[in-house]
Amino acid sequence: MKSFLLAALALSLFACQTKEEILHDQYVIEGRIQYENNCANCHQSNGEGLRNLYPAISKSTLSAPELARLIKQGRKSATGYMPANPKLQAIDIAEIITFMRHEWGKNEQTFTFDSTRIVLKGIN
Ligand code: HEC
Repeated sequence: MKSFLLAALALSLFACQTKEEILHDQYVIEGRIQYENNCANCHQSNGEGLRNLYPAISKSTLSAPELARLIKQGRKSATGYMPANPKLQAIDIAEIITFMRHEWGKNEQTFTFDSTRIVLKGIN
């Protein structure tokens, strides 16, 4: 009886969310882990960067496709060098971008695996 009640409770909790919302939440949770593992060393957990070594990215105005290419390929300029991330797959990058938009962009749209795959086509 108890487990039946728990199951019913779990079901009613999930029923409040659409399939898209559940997917979005999964992206954000996974993206936060990926961000911590691959980006926070330099840009810090709060996205504020580190002095003048690593720029703050919490207010970056890059579009999602620009961000996907930057994460995959890295960037070198007169002021700094961000290494490429050849090991990150389209799904990882989609999750990182969705997390960043959720955390700092006030944007709850999922940047999907498919969109990321299209943007990264031909880039290794
Ligand atoms: C080794 C340090 C390092 C790591 C790790 C790193 N970055 Fe960067 N990132 C930089 C540097 C340095 C720049 C500035 C590059 C330049 O001057 O062109 C930069 C630039 C950026 C920018 C551009 C800001 C703008 O508006 O132009 C974004 C966004 C960004 N990084 C996101 C990320 C994400 C997401 C990750 C993880 C996948 C990541 N970075 C990992 C060092 C790093």
